[in-house]
Amino acid sequence: MSGSPAAPCRLPRDAILKKAYVKSYGCQMNAYDAGRMADVLAAEGYSATEAVEEADIVVLNTCHIREKAAEKVYSELGRLRVLKGERAEAGRETKIVVAGCVAQAEGREILSRAPAVDVVVGPQSYHRLPDLLRRSREGRVVDTEFPLEDKFDHLPARRNRGVTGFLTVQEGCDKFCAFCVVPYTRGAEVSRSVAAVVEEARRLVADGVREITLIGQNVNAYHGDGADGAPATLGILMDALAQVPGLLRLRYTTSHPNDFADDLIAAHAHNPLVMPYLHLPVQSGSDRILHAMNRRHTGDAYRRLIARIRDARPDIALSSDFIVGFPGETDADFAETMRLVSDIGFAAAFSFKYSPRAGTPAAEREDAVPESVKTERLAELQKLLDAQRHAFNEAAVGTVAEILVEKVGRHPGQVAGKTPHLQAVQFDAPASTIGTLVPVRIVRSGSNSLFGERLPDAAAAA
Ligand code: SAH
Ligand code: SF4
Ligand code: F3S
Repeated sequence: MSGSPAAPCRLPRDAILKKAYVKSYGCQMNAYDAGRMADVLAAEGYSATEAVEEADIVVLNTCHIREKAAEKVYSELGRLRVLKGERAEAGRETKIVVAGCVAQAEGREILSRAPAVDVVVGPQSYHRLPDLLRRSREGRVVDTEFPLEDKFDHLPARRNRGVTGFLTVQEGCDKFCAFCVVPYTRGAEVSRSVAAVVEEARRLVADGVREITLIGQNVNAYHGDGADGAPATLGILMDALAQVPGLLRLRYTTSHPNDFADDLIAAHAHNPLVMPYLHLPVQSGSDRILHAMNRRHTGDAYRRLIARIRDARPDIALSSDFIVGFPGETDADFAETMRLVSDIGFAAAFSFKYSPRAGTPAAEREDAVPESVKTERLAELQKLLDAQRHAFNEAAVGTVAEILVEKVGRHPGQVAGKTPHLQAVQFDAPASTIGTLVPVRIVRSGSNSLFGERLPDAAAAA
């Protein structure tokens, strides 16, 4: 360091005061990208703010997966137009950036629908944000290319606050399920190398992260270059990550049933960092609908896969995604979904009404299920899934679990963390336990969280 402590700061005043507001609307990868865009802007001198009114740059990282998700952004842009006008009257400029999967899908159309927008940037080109912002001084810009260069090679070093963090290891999808926009918005499947992932993980751990969730649209299709140059599997990648000192837990999401290799099943048995929790979307229990969805497996194939995973790791908690009301879905098809849910038993789940998306094959079909039927089926499915979730949480009462403490709790003196099964737990302990594993006896199950009592550390092995 040069200069005395009293030396005046030489940064231009503007550089210190610039603020960026970055909001994520989508999946975990969308949240990860939002964080990386904040890193890009931080390197340009913008500090993060959660107050949109004081932001000099507003980035909306949008999601295109269902109609509702995509429409949200336009109502937000309406509000931002007013805010931008008010700030302009006060002599302050505001740049508005639309990023993410709506940006990719709609490109220029966003400029005509939303006059306040300055920059539209897709999920594969946001590392170019500084350049796009500079160019936007001359006029509004759109970048929805799938560039040849890898964005990860051009992003600044990552900063992370908190005990848990996401890490993108694979991106894009070649599966083309008949309902889904992701192969169009995210592009073809690409994996990062083991070395790049391990380096990012080390950096996260140095920043205090203790649990990493590896993310990808099809994370178990991971095939990045390994140390020997040959493609590595997700199982091999997690073995490499298990060597990172200070890392306590690994999770991964989202998997596709057809890419579930034997060595990934084995990882649940032999890699102590891999948590006994698996999010494995099935969408439907009807073979006819699974076929129409282009999922390329049957309900029974899913049951058999789950049986093999449970053999390797009997205490694994399962979660899934479901779509009700896919075109042509009959009562009998829906009954098959209910039967599959009853057979398997899920600890958690996400369920959605089918939402037609322009450009996908299913959107062309003329045998749409009426909205009222979708509503009824969703309610019936969610009732069963909720009951299973409650039963799973109730079953934890009386057990001892190792909790990774993430933050202070809702009440003074409390902290909050997660069980290996991803259940939120609150209990009394000092904030100094944040970032550590603490043995806890679960004493009660509430609607959104479990409650526990801290045990002496020796009880961890019990
Ligand atoms: N990559 C993940 C899913 C990404 S989208 C995977 O392959 O499993 C997350 C979930 O959104 C999907 O699992 C599906 O249940 C739901 N989804 C995707 N497209 C949808 C649509 N058009 N309508 C309703 N739900 C949809
Ligand atoms: Fe979408 Fe299917 Fe690819 Fe998942 S596997 S991202 S649902 S196309
Ligand atoms: Fe949405 Fe794109 Fe994720 S469409 S779910 S933000 S990959």
